[in-house]
Amino acid sequence: MDYHLMLNWPDFIERYWQKRPVVLKRGFNNFVDPITPDELAGLAMENEVDSRLVSHLDGKWQVSHGPFESYDHLGENNWSLLVQAVNHWHEPTAALMRPFRALPDWRMDDLMVSFSVPGGGVGPHLDQYDVFIIQGTGRRRWRVGEKAPLKQHCPHPDLLQVDPFDAIIDEEMEPGDILYIPPGFPHEGYSLENSLNYSVGFRAPSGKELISSFADYVLQRELGTHRYSDPDVPSREHPADILPQELDRLRDMMLGLIQQPEQFKQWFGEFVSQSRHELDVAPPEPPYQPDEIYDVLRQGDKLVRLGGLRVLRIADDVFVNGEKIDSPHRPALEALASHIVLGEDHFGDALEDPSFLAMLAALVNSGYWFFED
Ligand code: SIN
Ligand code: CO
Repeated sequence: MDYHLMLNWPDFIERYWQKRPVVLKRGFNNFVDPITPDELAGLAMENEVDSRLVSHLDGKWQVSHGPFESYDHLGENNWSLLVQAVNHWHEPTAALMRPFRALPDWRMDDLMVSFSVPGGGVGPHLDQYDVFIIQGTGRRRWRVGEKAPLKQHCPHPDLLQVDPFDAIIDEEMEPGDILYIPPGFPHEGYSLENSLNYSVGFRAPSGKELISSFADYVLQRELGTHRYSDPDVPSREHPADILPQELDRLRDMMLGLIQQPEQFKQWFGEFVSQSRHELDVAPPEPPYQPDEIYDVLRQGDKLVRLGGLRVLRIADDVFVNGEKIDSPHRPALEALASHIVLGEDHFGDALEDPSFLAMLAALVNSGYWFFED
């Protein structure tokens, strides 16, 4: 299913992106849910899928984590089932993320889906990331407050909430409506009836994540083995002193490691192309031979990218799930990065090159791309 988003992107980015929350009424016209509540409940019974149930009664909050064996204990009110990275496990839901590719792929994360009964929600809270919350079936009341330093507390060890806030947005969302919330704006959604919500989440690395990942890269590649040296060691008043120019040299040593453009690019490509949630990789059995890939594409079959697989490009380099893929066939690599579904035409004459076919076969045999049924 193709989803068409009614949105003037340049206007949205100028006025709202990372700035103000907004309700995009009827962002999707005649919205059709890509998943049913039963399918969602089934996914939350799987071991690999990250899910939680949040409920509340008389101001007391409960959280339990999947996989769930049954839902029989749940009443008709005040609970919500939330499932992470549904786009990894359920192909039709992945289509809901595509209209948001007006924003860069590397900033996009995953699709969280929630099913809530009347009164269900996770309570007032803040998120660190931008999110587009799409209303599916049912109606849900969403409130958003002004961004302000709010005290956070835990009504349950696994639930972070904020105190009640005044609303700058208070809206009953209907199917196809979209609520955009930048990081740090408090919000809460309470279902008015059984309802599905789809959260297209974004990611933004923190300085500490970047430093920690870069440090891992330095260790793996055995970079930075060069040691501090001071043939002109300056004299000082007290032997215990470390001089400002020594601190400067130490900082320069560290910056020197980061300021190697090729290494920096390679590290960031590997880092940012890794998914934060498990992928549903199912390598084909038996594996494909390169010439079979050629035949199947030539006969008109399409290759589909695995849901949640991150394929990102930095200049001429393409990174797939934490690894650079190498080929002189730039247009074919670009097609792999741009398109979710690919046919023979996307690859052009790269298909005549055995080394490209071998690379494509390796990607298919890893389960990263698969042939559409
Ligand atoms: C949801 O309940 O569907 C979204 C939760 C959130 O606000 O992050
Ligand atoms: Co939230």
